[in-house]
Amino acid sequence: MSRIVYVNGEYLPEEEAKVSIFDRGFLMADAVYEVCSVLDGKLLEFEGHIARLHRSLSELKMAEPCSDEELLEIHRELVKRNEVKEGGVYLQVTRGASDRDFVWAKDLKPTLVLFTQAKSIEHSPTATTGIKVIAIEDQRWARRDIKTVQLLFPSLAKMEAKAQGKDDAWLVEDGFVTEGTSNNAWIVTKDGTIVTRDLSTDLLHGITRASVMKYAKEAQMKVEERKFTIEEAQNAAEAFFTSASAFVTPVVEIDGATLGDGTPGPVARRLREIYLAESRARAI
Ligand code: PDD
Repeated sequence: MSRIVYVNGEYLPEEEAKVSIFDRGFLMADAVYEVCSVLDGKLLEFEGHIARLHRSLSELKMAEPCSDEELLEIHRELVKRNEVKEGGVYLQVTRGASDRDFVWAKDLKPTLVLFTQAKSIEHSPTATTGIKVIAIEDQRWARRDIKTVQLLFPSLAKMEAKAQGKDDAWLVEDGFVTEGTSNNAWIVTKDGTIVTRDLSTDLLHGITRASVMKYAKEAQMKVEERKFTIEEAQNAAEAFFTSASAFVTPVVEIDGATLGDGTPGPVARRLREIYLAESRARAI
C-alpha cells in the first residue's frame, strides 16, 4: 500500500502528490512547518503545535491555510488511512506559488502539505543509551523562534556530528548554547536544578520544552530558565534534550566530555517517564 498524503485539499498516493516548481516554499524556503507525534494512533500535543503554527504564520504575515478543525480532521484522516500507530505527522504551509520574485503578491493561496511517518519513537535505542553531542557555532538566521523550513544549517551541523562519530550538535552563540539542531537543550546541575535557555528569538519555543517544564515544576523539581555554556554542561550532573519526536532523550557526552558514568541520569529518565504518561493521557 502506498502512503496517502494530503496536498491542498486532496488525499493522494505519495507518487501522485505534486506542488508547483514556482512554489515559494521550494524557491525561497518561504514556508513553516510542524511535527506532531503519534502514539497508540493518537496525536500528542496537537493544540500546542497548532498554536505555534498560528504564531509562525502571523510573524511572517502568511495566510492561514484552513481552520483548526480542518487541520485536526486532516491529521486524523492521514493517521487512519495510513494505519499509523506510532510515528508522526509532518505539516508544511508555504506562502504559495507565483513567478520568482523577492516581492510577493498579497493574494497568494497558501500551499498545505501533510504526510505521516510511521516509526518507533517510544522505545528508540537512544532513550536507553543516551546520545553524544558536539558543539558547533550557531550560524542560523536570527528568527529561530519561527519554525521555518530553513533547515540547511541544522542539517550540515548534524552531518558534521555524524562525520565525527557522534549523534547531534549543540549550537553555540556568543559562548552560550542556543539549542540542539532540532531540539531544545537542558542540563541538570549538581544540586539538582534543571536548566534550559530562556525564550527569545534565539531559539525555537519548543512545545515539549514547555510541557516538560510544567511537569517538572508540578513534581517539585527546581527549574531555571537561563543561558549556559558548553563548559557548564560538560560539568553538569546530567544533560538531555527535548523534542516532539524524541520526547526527553538523555545526553551522555558533550564535545568530548563524558557526563557522570556515561549512562543516562535519573532526572532525564524520570522526566521522560512523566512526559510520556502525561502526554499519552492528553492525546487526542
Ligand atoms: N524539531 N529546536 C529546534 C531547532 C527544533 O527544530 C525543534 C523541533 C525543537 C523542539 O521543539 P518541539 O518540542 O516543539 O518539537 C527545538 C522537530 C521535531 C523537527 O524538526 O523534526
